[in-house]
Amino acid sequence: MIEPGPLLSLIGTLVRFTTFTAMAVLVGAATWRWAMRGAEPASDSPWGTPRRWGMLAAALLVPLAAARFGVLLVEFRDPMETWGEAAAIVATLPTARVWMWQAVIAGVTALALVARVWSFATLGALALSFIPALSGHAMAVSPGRNWAVALDGAHVIGAGLWIGTLALLSVRLRHGPVLPAGSGPGLVRRFSPLALAGAGVVVATGVIGTLLHLDLAGGVALLGNDWVRVLLAKTAVVGGVALLGFLNWRRATPDYEASDEPTGILRTMRIELALGGLAFLLAAVLVVMSPPG
Ligand code: HEM
Repeated sequence: MIEPGPLLSLIGTLVRFTTFTAMAVLVGAATWRWAMRGAEPASDSPWGTPRRWGMLAAALLVPLAAARFGVLLVEFRDPMETWGEAAAIVATLPTARVWMWQAVIAGVTALALVARVWSFATLGALALSFIPALSGHAMAVSPGRNWAVALDGAHVIGAGLWIGTLALLSVRLRHGPVLPAGSGPGLVRRFSPLALAGAGVVVATGVIGTLLHLDLAGGVALLGNDWVRVLLAKTAVVGGVALLGFLNWRRATPDYEASDEPTGILRTMRIELALGGLAFLLAAVLVVMSPPG
């Protein structure tokens, strides 16, 4: 095993970030199908549709699984071994098996979306949300490993429900088929309770997950731990997303309803999405650091 250099760490972080983002978009696409579509006119367009974004996200998760395997292989390989020997050993690790399942489930989910079999695609999106937990810190929680995995999976699903659906909504308002007068604000109104539910799940599972990983008896000394600092930064960023969401609900949505012009609400949504992306990036950094517990 070699110490990962800065370049390999950066590649690993980017692969995890893209993986989390793709999972969120996929959950967002499933959310759209079951909870948003009723408010949308039936027309179709090549890239404005959540189904296509879901397909793209699912398809991307296949090479991303291979990329995670590749990063681990480079980290793990002993210079005395050939690449083939090292790959054969890495393939037997439990985490590598989890990524193999990621590739298989993501491939099947992408095909289900091509065939418009939404029930199957939704099951695929839900199953994929548990992949980070099954290959991360949750597996090291003892006792209570199953609870930790369930919480982490729900955390990723909540993030998709909130941030993934928001991303699809902003694309839909800007690039989708032209919306009949008044139906854009209808979509935004329909999204509000979903965002609230997603944010509630993310915060609840995030807080309980945090308590599983650290012992608060450590007091202020915990602030010296890098995992805790990154988690605090992430929590501050999430606070920013929640605040913007609140402003969208109280101010930008009524303005949009009055004018039927999405420019103002899209501006706030983009900042929300940028901060949501930052939360995914900080999560990608967090999951390879050592929690104090
Ligand atoms: C926009 C909001 C948020 C997003 C998009 C988000 C996203 C994520 C993602 C994708 C993971 C990786 C899951 C895994 O590896 O199993 C994660 C892990 C985690 N998140 Fe969040 N999260 C958010 C908010 C929060 C909040 C508010 C808290 C706590 C107060 C929190 C605490 C955690 C913890 C403790 C972990 C596990 C870290 C580890 O395994 O080392 N998250 N988050």
